Amino acid sequence: MSSASGPSGATAPRPCSLTVVVPCYNERANVAPMVASLDAALAGIAWEVVFVDDDSPDGTSEAARAIAIADPRVRCIRRVGRRGLSSAVIEGALSSSADYIAVIDGDLQHDETRLPVMLKALQSGAELVIGSRHVAGGDSQGLSSPLREKLSITGIRIAQRLTGAEISDPMSGFFALPRPLFERLASRLTGQGFKIMLDLVLASPLPLKITEIPYRFRPRTAGTSKLDALVLAQFAGLLIDKALHRTVPLRFISFALVGAFGVIINILVLEIARRAGMNFAAAQTLGTVVAMIANFQLNNQLTYRAQRLKGNKVWTGLLLFLLVCSLGAIANIGIARALYAEGGHDILAGAAGAAISVVWNYAVSATLVWRVR
Ligand code: GDD
Ligand code: MN
Repeated sequence: MSSASGPSGATAPRPCSLTVVVPCYNERANVAPMVASLDAALAGIAWEVVFVDDDSPDGTSEAARAIAIADPRVRCIRRVGRRGLSSAVIEGALSSSADYIAVIDGDLQHDETRLPVMLKALQSGAELVIGSRHVAGGDSQGLSSPLREKLSITGIRIAQRLTGAEISDPMSGFFALPRPLFERLASRLTGQGFKIMLDLVLASPLPLKITEIPYRFRPRTAGTSKLDALVLAQFAGLLIDKALHRTVPLRFISFALVGAFGVIINILVLEIARRAGMNFAAAQTLGTVVAMIANFQLNNQLTYRAQRLKGNKVWTGLLLFLLVCSLGAIANIGIARALYAEGGHDILAGAAGAAISVVWNYAVSATLVWRVR
């Protein structure tokens, strides 16, 4: 029997009341300062921190474990073969048994000294407490450029429209909520992209009791931001998903949009090759192959970002993808021909063939090329 948990144990550990979830990717230099800041900010509170690292090459996990060995309040989840801020937060939060969960960036840009105030708000009945840069006393000067600031404001407008909630900083990644609420919403989350807080708000069937707490967004001192064009595209995906009421899988939408883009590439290459004097069959074959390669690249970067193929696997993946899509094209032509022969309208017959080949390409490449579980 462990001495700490016995009935006579004067040293029985206090149940943890707050789990701080810290998503991190290449934040090694920030791990130790983060633990030290939490230790200072959360004095008197039973807390733990979970670093959720996506197998960062810089050794973020090792840095976290080195501290965890001596400090039981520190845990580390190392995810392999996966990427994504939102999904990392979900896994960290679901590993908690505390009363409350807080999510904070691992790069020290969020203000951990606000955590006790956020916890108080939850204890007084708030269902979601958001650290906001845009309420009186808040500040976003840590945004790295005027472009970032513009993007941020545009995103905020769209998100406010969509949620219908009066959230001044809907893009915030600094927030806290009761764990049971998170558990209830977990299965309804898309887990895509950067905007986990927004994902939670959208997942809730009933409006949440929200409190906003101002904070100053600090500039980054170590490491670099991971926000890029693809993250923005994923944000667009989250919005589309919401607009369609989750009837169509997000991955399919992305796959279909990439496919539509491929059609444009195909036509462009065909046109250029024809002008260069190539015969139609050769030009169309070239256009198709270029479009398929471009589609593979885009799907690998965007649709299947979380399962992205790297290194040598890219080549076998590309070959498989070309094979799958070629079969899809054969099915497309066969079905369209058959429908047309049955007296179908030519455009409808063509559209039916194309639709079936997109579904085929999607379903087969998901399992065969990217091996989605
Ligand atoms: N595990 C994991 N996996 N963590 C990640 C990943 C990932 O794929 N991508 C980013 N992170 C971690 C970073 O290491 C950092 O701790 C945190 O998530 C935020 O990422 P940054 O790259 O620093 O984001 P930012 O500063 O541009 O964006 C911030 O501002 C947004 C509002 O403008 C973040 O706070 C966002 O959450 C916030 O929405
Ligand atoms: Mn940051």
